[in-house]
Amino acid sequence: MSGAGAGIDIDSLMREMTLEEKVGQMSQLVGPKLTGPEGSADVERKIREGKAGSILNVRGEAARRLQEIAVEESRLGIPLVIGLDVIHGYETCFPIPLAMSCSWAPDEIENACRISGAEASRDGIAWTFTPMCDISRDPRWGRVAEGAGEDPYLGARISEAQVRGFQGSLDKPTDIAACVKHFALYGAVQAGREYYTTDMSRVQMMNEYLPPYRAAVDAGALTVMTSFNEFEGLPMTVHPYMLDTLLRGRMGFEGMLVTDYTAIKETVQHGTSPNLDDAALKAARAGVDMEMVSECFSTYLAAAVRDGRIDEAVVDRSCRRVLELKRRLGLFDNPYKYNRPEEIALNGSPESLAASRRLAAKSAVLLKNEGGILPVAQGLKIAVIGPLADQGNEMLGTWSIRPRTHAPVSLLQGLKERFGEQRVRFERGCGILESSDQLRKAALSLAKKSDVIVAAMGESAKMSGEGTSLADVRLSAPQRELLAELKSLGKPIVLVVMAGRPLVLEWESENVDAILYAWHLGSEAGRAIADLLSGDENPSGRLSMTFPRSVGQIPIYYNHKNSGRPAEDYAPYHNRRSQYMDIINAPLYYFGYGLSYSRISYSDLRIETGPSRITVSVTLRNDSGRDAMETVQLYIRDKAASITRPVAELKAFRQVEVAAGSAVRVDIPLEIKDMGFFGSDLSYRVEPGEFEIMVGPSADPRTLLKIACRVAEDS
Ligand code: NOJ
Repeated sequence: MSGAGAGIDIDSLMREMTLEEKVGQMSQLVGPKLTGPEGSADVERKIREGKAGSILNVRGEAARRLQEIAVEESRLGIPLVIGLDVIHGYETCFPIPLAMSCSWAPDEIENACRISGAEASRDGIAWTFTPMCDISRDPRWGRVAEGAGEDPYLGARISEAQVRGFQGSLDKPTDIAACVKHFALYGAVQAGREYYTTDMSRVQMMNEYLPPYRAAVDAGALTVMTSFNEFEGLPMTVHPYMLDTLLRGRMGFEGMLVTDYTAIKETVQHGTSPNLDDAALKAARAGVDMEMVSECFSTYLAAAVRDGRIDEAVVDRSCRRVLELKRRLGLFDNPYKYNRPEEIALNGSPESLAASRRLAAKSAVLLKNEGGILPVAQGLKIAVIGPLADQGNEMLGTWSIRPRTHAPVSLLQGLKERFGEQRVRFERGCGILESSDQLRKAALSLAKKSDVIVAAMGESAKMSGEGTSLADVRLSAPQRELLAELKSLGKPIVLVVMAGRPLVLEWESENVDAILYAWHLGSEAGRAIADLLSGDENPSGRLSMTFPRSVGQIPIYYNHKNSGRPAEDYAPYHNRRSQYMDIINAPLYYFGYGLSYSRISYSDLRIETGPSRITVSVTLRNDSGRDAMETVQLYIRDKAASITRPVAELKAFRQVEVAAGSAVRVDIPLEIKDMGFFGSDLSYRVEPGEFEIMVGPSADPRTLLKIACRVAEDS
């Protein structure tokens, strides 16, 4: 086998490669799909002929077999890089990414990614298509479930943690390659409609959408994936400015750029190429190194080089990047590095499941707790009602890999384990999308005999993720109707919402006693929720996306601009203000919001301004009898600048333990260089002048302490 082994010399390997073999490295085929038989045609033959650089959606023995063909039966024995969407866990399923982001705990997220990568690496996987860095302000878009929410700063901290978690130092067999996706702006598809058009100013893109991608690239992500959407009239996969000038040039990305699934072929549907041949050339010229699945590169590129329509240097450059990725992963040294069946038994270990349960408990967000109904007192008779209560599998959420070693824990199971079989009774009440008289009657009769109702409602796993846009993001009608009937019984109701996106909960927020937003929390969902409902854990999750009070407010986000005729969020309608006639501007729940079982107050906000840094300090007091983990959030507002700036921008946060009955003083450093923005010429600057610094428990302006601050000319 030529070129393999330590110290692989990519130059000499490339000298041995034919043009077809170089183009072959630029092609990724789909193996027999994990979920079904369909896949690319003739995969084994193509690998043998050197016409595939990568395979996705295979694992285990099937992955090993394909790697053997590549290494032992192809002319040059170049190993494959095998990829899979390891999005929030492998055997151990962690909360969906949007849920994880509500932990505001990048270290825990990094740990979850480390475990997920290690588990996948034992089963043949060298490359995951994570992190998804798409900022989104639109819960109608089902893929919000896969990202870290609406905020560029929080998103950046999380996406870099994900890259660190998966890639580690790239020297262990458990370290796998990350892929920053979807580049770029996919989360801003108009009207939240999947695969639709994106457009915005470059200034907005630079300031509000790019930071998470940039942070992930800076963290050393080895690969980036182009997105399906168009921007400025060009599909991202053929966008020279975005891929070359911006990603490679300004952002300094040196790794391998892959398309999304069949995205080159789809540019013909977008209408920027008359045929697949032209589409392939445009993508290659724009800087795409590897094509996922549609085989336009392998069909057309070599001929285009031969007849002079594209320079061979373009192919060489991309082929080199693919080989370089394989070198960085150590695949030339050991092509089977990522196939360690002898270690598979380590997957889904008690320690990993414990990490999942811990992160799940930190990811759920307590939205309401009236009259302190939570934690649920011991000894009460609990009626568990709703179509999701006994559905452990649904708790895995989108992009999950069905665990082979353990059954995911439903809420019902978690509650029974915690409160005892005799205290916990279950009736479904309705389906997610179907009502049933019989189920409803049984549920109402159980509820009447109980002391408290725990209603488990929301979305199934399939209702969020790719291809799941919704125009109406309320609870489904059967669930709403059931809840209204339960309400009429006058019993206390704790609503546990399991969903992949923020739902509009206006009626629910007024009519139930408590709401725990539990998302899809993974393998240990039921136990983690029971930990919170019982009070064994104190809720600490904070929203990473704003919750609208009405679908008509979408897109809604905390870091909006002021306008020339602003209205306070709670102000009544005035016909010369930036408002609706029929609704206030305030969301139902703000970005950053989340309750706990403790009572924390903020006071005495101060700043100390140094030459390059402002030190912000605040006192937190816990007046309750429970220790708390508080997420202190620091926002800034640039009062007057060369372009308009948001009313608030998150610039730092700190998680602080505050013991019951005690007070702590918290210092948060704020670097002056981080207080700037990209101006209308797209250059980054910090403009001197007046700023406002705001500190508090959420982006709700009513809860923030404020202090003015001046950034001097020479800072
Ligand atoms: C399409 C999705 O958009 C992307 O996120 C995913 O990584 C690829 N398919 C591969 O499955």
